[in-house]
Amino acid sequence: MTEEEKAIQFQQRIDAGEKIEPRDWMPDDYKQTLFRQISQHAHSEIIGMQPEGNWLLRAPSLRAKKILMAKIQDEAGHGLYLYSAAETFGIDRTEMIAMLHSGKAKYSSIFNYPALTWADMGAIGWLVDGAAIVNQTMLAKCSYGPYARAMVRICKEEGFHQRQGYEIIANMSAGTREQKEMAQDALNRWWEPSLMMFGPHDADSPHTHNSMKWKIKVESNDTLRQRFIDRTVEQAHHIGLTIPDKNLKYNKETMHWETSPINWDEFWNVVKGNGPCNHQRLNHHKKYHQEGQWVRDCARAFEEKLKSESAAIKSN
Ligand code: 3HC
Repeated sequence: MTEEEKAIQFQQRIDAGEKIEPRDWMPDDYKQTLFRQISQHAHSEIIGMQPEGNWLLRAPSLRAKKILMAKIQDEAGHGLYLYSAAETFGIDRTEMIAMLHSGKAKYSSIFNYPALTWADMGAIGWLVDGAAIVNQTMLAKCSYGPYARAMVRICKEEGFHQRQGYEIIANMSAGTREQKEMAQDALNRWWEPSLMMFGPHDADSPHTHNSMKWKIKVESNDTLRQRFIDRTVEQAHHIGLTIPDKNLKYNKETMHWETSPINWDEFWNVVKGNGPCNHQRLNHHKKYHQEGQWVRDCARAFEEKLKSESAAIKSN
């Protein structure tokens, strides 16, 4: 078959709803788009551990500490899952991490904001993981098999993450005046950055057209963002918190909540590295990645030992 015929057959498979597996033929652009997205998704999971890790030793109870510990461990597992999915394109995670450290690869801009109070642990679980659930339940239908399958388990764990966050923020909203103020302050700071997690508007998204054609995305950035807004506004009102948007209004015809325009200058400024915590997050990752080199060296040495022992057994 010519390359053109292969490309036609590939798109027919996508249109028929088939899953593409690592050994299947696929266009280079499809590979590139998926490797970029999955590796950046993995980076986001790992960097996203930092804001919460900061509060582990300051959790207000042993129960809160155990829940936060479990969540952070889950995020590490999500990162490893996604690095494995990205490695199906033949690029080792060592290279991916080098791309992160050099700035060639991104991670979600939301993690470049500071977690200032314990209420932020609630806002991150409720809003950031809540947004991730909306996005990732869509990605579980992605045409690339390893990515879609990784999403199934990740989404189950995200459900726990979102509920534990909402429990924190709901309890604080029902607590003392100071606690309610902390909860509202956290919502005020995390609301707009969580809307940005879905990416630029569809009309301004360079990747959405192809990603939708190849069913990497089966719903667009704006569709998912609106679903998140509609769900979250009700949740905020249910616990007596106010969405920090004076133009927020419910459209009875469309049955959607309408919000103010998003500050995309802020978004791109943070994506470009000028957010409150960009340098801190990356320097932290570089420091501890370097300090963990001995673990990787030991694991590699052990792997070599196992290989030579099994080769010796085979040769006898
Ligand atoms: N932060 C940083 N960069 C972003 C971004 C964000 N929130 N949204 C978009 N961008 C970047 C894109 O990466 C792309 O840049 P690139 O070409 O250099 O990669 C550019 O802005 C244009 O955006 P597009 O919408 O055209 O790009 P995509 O089609 O890739 O859509 C996306 C962006 C919706 C984030 C998509 O990449 C995606 O669904 N990624 C997988 C999910 C993910 O990465 N989530 C991040 C959070 S992980 C998380 O929250 C875990 C939870 O457990 C805490």
